Amino acid sequence: MSDVEALKKAAGIAACDFVKTGMKVGLGTGSTVKHTVIELGRRMSEEGLEIVGVPTSLATEELATKVGIPLVELSELDGLDIVIDGADEYDPNFQLIKGGGAALLREKIVAQESAAMVVVADARKRVQTLGAFPLPIEVTPFSHEATVRGLSRLLDCRVNIRMAGNGPVITDNGNMIADAHTGPTIENPIECERNVLMIAGVVQVGLFNGMCDAVVLAGGDGIETFVKPGGRLSQ
Ligand code: A5P
Repeated sequence: MSDVEALKKAAGIAACDFVKTGMKVGLGTGSTVKHTVIELGRRMSEEGLEIVGVPTSLATEELATKVGIPLVELSELDGLDIVIDGADEYDPNFQLIKGGGAALLREKIVAQESAAMVVVADARKRVQTLGAFPLPIEVTPFSHEATVRGLSRLLDCRVNIRMAGNGPVITDNGNMIADAHTGPTIENPIECERNVLMIAGVVQVGLFNGMCDAVVLAGGDGIETFVKPGGRLSQ
């Protein structure tokens, strides 16, 4: 296992301590939180943990089913206790860029329905200003070229439809992903989110503002958990 993979695994497993029996848990998407899902499945079968999960993607649904986590529809529940998910970047105010795995829409819906959000990440994800990681934006296939031009004008940067081989990446919702190469310039993610969402053709943007309450970070010094002051997990 590479060093980075070992850090992802350590962070993913450590975050499971936020999950207690009886909780309804949002299950994020990506190569870090997959370790959380596997560990939750292990704790259920070996340690008597009892939870239900709501997956944020078809990939996570498949993994959670494989490791034995019972899944429910978000619409059947009156909210979730917690969601654990990865991030592509997080800043000192616990604002996030997500969507590197093209799952941002379902991830944001699940995060919005959760009483708390924990992010699992390795130290490379911590930044001073968001945007070095291209900002993922889910857009409708209809007239996506026009939407991309509008985004490029708004953000004053190159915007590309994400490709996989010869065709565009298609999300679990049948949409496309436009990646905006803003560079590390997103000083005001709340304003940026608001402006991007004004463009018709945009379904959702991978800025998660005011959602993350704690980050479980794996780095050279081991596991560190940063709890957002005044956040929903701060007492
Ligand atoms: C999925 O769309 C993303 O939001 C992921 O949660 C994010 O890209 C982090 O993924 P990794 O843990 O694989 O870096």
